Amino acid sequence: MTVRHFLTLTDLSSNEFTALLHRAIELRAMHKKGEIYEPLKNKVLAMVFEKSSTRTRVSFEAGMTQFGGHAIFLSPRDTQLGRGEPIEDSARVLSSMATCIMVRTFEHEKIERFAEYSSVPVINGLTDDVHPCQLLADMQTFLEHKGDIKGKTVTWVGDGNNMCHSYMHAAKLLDFKLNIACPEAYKPQRKFLDATSDYVELMHDPLAACQQSDLIVTDVWASMGQEEEQTKREAAFAPYQVNKSLMAVANTDALFMHCLPAHRGEEVSADVIDGNQSVVWDEAENRLHAQKALLEFLLVE
Ligand code: CP
Ligand code: NVA
Repeated sequence: MTVRHFLTLTDLSSNEFTALLHRAIELRAMHKKGEIYEPLKNKVLAMVFEKSSTRTRVSFEAGMTQFGGHAIFLSPRDTQLGRGEPIEDSARVLSSMATCIMVRTFEHEKIERFAEYSSVPVINGLTDDVHPCQLLADMQTFLEHKGDIKGKTVTWVGDGNNMCHSYMHAAKLLDFKLNIACPEAYKPQRKFLDATSDYVELMHDPLAACQQSDLIVTDVWASMGQEEEQTKREAAFAPYQVNKSLMAVANTDALFMHCLPAHRGEEVSADVIDGNQSVVWDEAENRLHAQKALLEFLLVE
């Protein structure tokens, strides 16, 4: 039997993605009503974090507890993975004990190798290339606030990074137009551009890119692992701050999203992220509901 992994959004079909978003909305409502629903009783999620996390860790851990199961946090600091035990061996061993494994790491190739040797589903909790779990939450949030995203325009402002790549995948799967405003030196990777070219327009002027947009999204200028490039990046990205002037050219009811953590005064001004078009707190909370929908999809027959 082949194991179903979630390494990128493209591991889902368009229909599966849409169904999962609707299920996440149902799970959110059930949770708010205090309904007990424990489809993963006695099941275990192992979570391997090679990078820091607040939202991903807590949402998976809370989600597993609410589903009646348990989550184990593993960091390289105190596991043998951090002392050089091969990925293949770690994957075999962890998957012989856990029902599912979430991995947050650097090179995407590492999670692919881990999944190849895992006998249970592997979920990508962020790699240098993509952040698919965040897109489940973002797309759930859009659906809740604005309805179907099909045919809408989304503008990504800033770095052509892991989040941007996952937005490109989402544009193709959910059929929306994605404008990307980024400096020439920080474009998305060629393989993502090639795979999504019918849905994505690369621009360099953020004002032009934000026009008639229904959603403006940004992310940090220096991602985890790029800390030493912070100063150089601050200079390159200075014209790409999402502020009132950028929001003013988007549709009047446009939403603002950011996966968090955010740096007010850098990629976004405080008045935008804390303003009334921002849905970042719903977006963050939806990590919990969307990932519960994902766990149910992957693990419950
Ligand atoms: N957005 C996100 O993945 O947050 P964490 O790094 O806190 O998990
Ligand atoms: N692009 C950011 C996202 C953090 C959730 C990073 O990789 O650090």
